[in-house]
Amino acid sequence: MKRAGIILAAGMGTRMKSATPKVLHKVAGLPILGHVINAMTGAGISRIVVVSAPAMDGVRTFATSMGAENAIQEKQLGTGNAAASARTVLGDFDGAVLVNNGDMPMAQSPMMAESLASAEKHGYSVVAFEPEDAAAYGRVLVDADGFLDRIVEFKDATEQQRKVRLCCAGTYSAANARKFFEWASQLKNNNAQKEYYLPEVTLVAKKEGVRSSITVADAITVMGMNSRAELADAERHMQNRLRDKHLANGVGMLAPETVFLSHDTVLEADVQVGPFVVFGPGVTVRSGADIKAFSHLEQAEVGRGALIGPYARLRPGAVIEDDVHIGNFVEVKKARIEKGAKANHLTYIGDARVGAGANIGAGTITCNYDGFDKHFTDIGAGAFIGSNTALVAPVTVADGVYVGAGSTITRNVEKDALVVERAEQKQVSGWAENFRQKKRAAKAEKAKGS
Ligand code: UD1
Ligand code: CA
Repeated sequence: MKRAGIILAAGMGTRMKSATPKVLHKVAGLPILGHVINAMTGAGISRIVVVSAPAMDGVRTFATSMGAENAIQEKQLGTGNAAASARTVLGDFDGAVLVNNGDMPMAQSPMMAESLASAEKHGYSVVAFEPEDAAAYGRVLVDADGFLDRIVEFKDATEQQRKVRLCCAGTYSAANARKFFEWASQLKNNNAQKEYYLPEVTLVAKKEGVRSSITVADAITVMGMNSRAELADAERHMQNRLRDKHLANGVGMLAPETVFLSHDTVLEADVQVGPFVVFGPGVTVRSGADIKAFSHLEQAEVGRGALIGPYARLRPGAVIEDDVHIGNFVEVKKARIEKGAKANHLTYIGDARVGAGANIGAGTITCNYDGFDKHFTDIGAGAFIGSNTALVAPVTVADGVYVGAGSTITRNVEKDALVVERAEQKQVSGWAENFRQKKRAAKAEKAKGS
């Protein structure tokens, strides 16, 4: 059976106190909306429509980038009206539809698939859960047969109804998308908030003899996100989920609670991660690599058996090949470090290639930026760059070159040459001892006088 998805994202999210629409706030490096889209895709949903407000160009751009379609809710008249707005795109869709709040960063495919399967059996289905604190969630009232009686919004609920623990998660499925849009168009807004409530679609369906089933989800999976505090809470839960996933896949972590991951971090089995390592988006680490404490990686690749850190920084475009060593206070940006090369301390390598087996001494800097443009540094295989070398790009240091420590290299160096660029060393014999004697004598003279 074909399945479509609608994501409600037109709400202001005023409690976030942010100029950024709520669904674009990130959890594990991906906007919340992206997590919902991914969960839908995993549940076999082939067409996804994101409902946004007229001013939310950013939401639409992001939705498009993730392969979703867009619908606009002209005025924020409530969740029922938002879902109905997707009719402009899905009006002719022949299949089931799942509607999901856009503010559920922890949403997962199995919860959605279960809801759709139940709707495909019963006609309509809602997801319910028991949060630790039921707060202002809509309350789910169950009938004698275990079907949904109705959902009452917190603001409309009586004292008695507010005591109900079972809450509406914000995920709804209909077996027939066209029927769903018919029902949604019949909603009324005669309630405490003067809004068209999506949870009340079940009441319209019931009039046609369709009783809604209830599937129950885990409270963390369906947590809604309305404030900065809840965003931080979602991040905490997501980090735990990601850590558990990587540990289960065979990644070693000494202190997983201190490691921060992104939604797309790829760590192969037998990668070792030390304490306090941060993975920004777009990182892949191959088997046997060791990422030591306090390292920060973003849009970088690390090869088999490489040693990174402690205190290393891999920035976008860093490609670290197998068995490379990148040590403490070494920063690599947009550079390929070829097999077995070493930069063990205090170095910046940007816009460069470092050939296989090369050795980069402490304090080596690629001077890649002239204030306007970036330039390339090419370091050959087996080159030995002495400590405190400045490589002023564009410049090529060929294979096998030795660069003397403290050199500033501004011109290309030929294969297997020694290059030294610094003033000749000068020695004045006995100068130091003469100097000390003169100084001591002068001091003794002064002391006598006073
Ligand atoms: C909603 C449910 C509530 C449920 C809770 C779960 C309604 C009326 N209530 O409440 O039963 O327990 O979710 O988290 O649906 N949105 C629009 N257009 C609008 C209004 C909202 O697109 O006009 C979007 C928001 O961007 C958001 C989602 O719909 O992603 C839910 O809206 P929100 O205001 O957060 O609903 P809740 O009050 O949390
Ligand atoms: Ca909400």
